[in-house]
Amino acid sequence: MCGIVGYIGNQQSSGILIDGLKRLEYRGYDSAGIAVHDGENINVVKSKGKLVNLVEKINKAPVRGTLGIGHTRWATHGAPSDINSHPHISGDGTIAVVHNGIIENYIDIKNELIEKGYTFVSETDTETVAHLIDYYYKTGVGFVDAVYETLKRIEGSYALGVICKDFPDTLVAARKNCPLVIGIGKNENFIASDIPAILHHTRKVYFLDDMEFAVIKSDSIKIFNMDKNEVKKDIFNVEWDIDAAEKGGYEHFMIKEINEQPRIINELVSMRMPKDKNFIDMSGIKLKKEDINELNRIYIVACGTAYHAGLIGKTLIEKFTKIPVIADVASEFRYREPVIDEKTLLIVVSQSGETADTLEALRIAKRNSARVLAVVNAVGSSIAREADDVFYILAGPEISVASTKAFTAQVVAMELIAFNMAIECGALSKEEFETIKSEFYCLDTKIGQILDESEKIKALAEKYSKSRNVFFIGRGLDYVVSKEGSLKLKEIAYLHSEAYAAGELKHGPIAMIDDETLVIAILTQEKLFDKTLSNIKEVKARGASVIAIAVEGNNIAAGEADDIIYIPRAMWSIAPVLAAVPAQLFAYYMAYCLGTDIDQPRNLAKSVTVE
Ligand code: AGP
Repeated sequence: MCGIVGYIGNQQSSGILIDGLKRLEYRGYDSAGIAVHDGENINVVKSKGKLVNLVEKINKAPVRGTLGIGHTRWATHGAPSDINSHPHISGDGTIAVVHNGIIENYIDIKNELIEKGYTFVSETDTETVAHLIDYYYKTGVGFVDAVYETLKRIEGSYALGVICKDFPDTLVAARKNCPLVIGIGKNENFIASDIPAILHHTRKVYFLDDMEFAVIKSDSIKIFNMDKNEVKKDIFNVEWDIDAAEKGGYEHFMIKEINEQPRIINELVSMRMPKDKNFIDMSGIKLKKEDINELNRIYIVACGTAYHAGLIGKTLIEKFTKIPVIADVASEFRYREPVIDEKTLLIVVSQSGETADTLEALRIAKRNSARVLAVVNAVGSSIAREADDVFYILAGPEISVASTKAFTAQVVAMELIAFNMAIECGALSKEEFETIKSEFYCLDTKIGQILDESEKIKALAEKYSKSRNVFFIGRGLDYVVSKEGSLKLKEIAYLHSEAYAAGELKHGPIAMIDDETLVIAILTQEKLFDKTLSNIKEVKARGASVIAIAVEGNNIAAGEADDIIYIPRAMWSIAPVLAAVPAQLFAYYMAYCLGTDIDQPRNLAKSVTVE
């Protein structure tokens, strides 16, 4: 939610800021702006809409200066507009601020500042921060201390970048519950919400932690805690390839990321399931037999797509360990006072590692003495750093707002965790493990075979692109994939779509089925095949068009479904990874036909760092 970037050095900053914002646009894209210090004054350019609008403005009237901050917004307070866009400046232009997060007590502070004579021009919470820093600064405490005093007053969440007219050599950054990295350059330094924004300039970063602030000059970085003690940090070296965050010839990041899945799954499987070993390598993760025996319950908590991956983990872990597993969406979990103690294991799943609700679920669990295992993609993210154990899915940067490669990698990660627990609990024989291993080793090839059918799935999307009501149905793990397929269609094609447990349809929703409804039925679970087939017949009898996603060999007779996508055969527990791929492709091509903004769908942002 919102991306911030900042630069201090000896190069012109506006190009660097715009380039950084381009790479952060996935975090929010309803307006953007930059503030650049020209040595004497701070010049601000902002624009409603996509970044191109801002670029147009800057091209017409370039701003010069080697210190600057930039922002791409996902509106929380006030509609997207030029005025509400960041950076926000104090009345006389002394202070400029970019902010990601929500200042919860901004109304009180705003009223207080209005009484002191401050005038507000925007509807945002962030403008309060600019005026409050200005207020403290004008009491004579100095720029850095003015920011510090402000941090003591504001509540909520923030990543902040602040500059002051009187200090052309200083950039101040601060963080609480929103990500912020500091990029370390040579005679230049950077701040950003996420690494890709600065990866063209440096691979060395510091991760700012909550309640820390940094005073950044072109040749120095000093980080302090809220006791004003300097904090010494380790430099983190970013190892992934810059190309990972580029489109690489594909039209959209989403289709690029869908196509990356065979490689990612292959790498993950090879790393965690060495070919010559008869165990799953869980290095660094405390899930040995004695740890599992200690547990009385497991929670799996996440949001959106990551939650769906968690649901697959729930089924498998419960089946093998016989420990009760409760899967919950983080925004519900955090407010429902779940029973948590030192015998609880909380597994959180998150691509970004920054999702506010998931992070809070983790913190609640830790406060209640539970152990936390995080299944995360973004290396060094808040969730990864605060969890006791981390299972990195290593999918590389996922730029498309709609998650695809992270989902299949999360599912594989959850399965590996479940199979590891099964081995530890004695629930899997050596022979069974060998079969599972060979199934995992074929996954990349099988995903590749589905990707080879992309044109066929594109043709189906064209055929059904006029559909306005879509139901996904399935049973067991197919129901989970249905939820994911339905979410994909909603978020990028803006289609009304629902996922239903196939057996639940006749308890109400079947009333909605008519000859304008498209039903996508997923049937990979052998023992539930006939049951779901009966449900297909029920919806066909009521006029619906049906696309079935079934495994090769489980033939569906002509007339039972209008169209059938066959996927390679795989064991029940692994089949969801395969079934997800045609669902992703279908959503992608539907959105393509409908002409939506696939990588940056309306109203969404990649990383949801507000509640
Ligand atoms: C997926 O396509 C979504 N954009 C969204 O549901 C996402 O999975 C969710 O916000 C969780 O994000 P996280 O994995 O970064 O925590």
